[in-house]
Amino acid sequence: MKTYLALLSATILALSACSQEAAQPAASNDAAASVPAQEGASAASSPAPVAEKVDPASVSADCSVVVETGDQMKFNMNEIKVKKSCEAFKVTLKHTGSMPATSMGHNLVIAKADDASAIASEGTGAGPDGGYLNADNPAIVAHTDLVGGGQESSLAFKTSQLDPNASYKFFCTFPAHFASMQGDVKLVD
Ligand code: CO
Repeated sequence: MKTYLALLSATILALSACSQEAAQPAASNDAAASVPAQEGASAASSPAPVAEKVDPASVSADCSVVVETGDQMKFNMNEIKVKKSCEAFKVTLKHTGSMPATSMGHNLVIAKADDASAIASEGTGAGPDGGYLNADNPAIVAHTDLVGGGQESSLAFKTSQLDPNASYKFFCTFPAHFASMQGDVKLVD
């Protein structure tokens, strides 16, 4: 294919030598030939495996982490380390503030980094009645409920749901919180 295009370009260039008008098309053909086909097609991520429900209460304390949040748009950590040795892992989100979920609600959602922004946008679209999350999106690995001051909610997932070759994030999908409320989820030994 490349050889063919090179020959084609050479031919066009040869032709353009005879005609001033043909010079422009030849230049643009060269530019097009250097762009790989289909590059614009979205390759965000491979289909996520169907999430297996895990009861957070069944997960041991050494395979759990508590993430705190409050009346500000931030989590108290920017990285969640998931031990590979854990069959399942639990994250508890604790809202230590006093503002209600309607004005300063938070959730904690885990998904591939490539899917996070779209899930957050979708969450805003789901509105308050939907808890600012489209929980049916199969790209979500796990998520807590939306909590307000004094409340907490836990999520749990099978560690095998995390692809060791992919990057994951945790984030909040309450409107306008995504930019400052996100961190990395990393598999560790
Ligand atoms: Co939030």
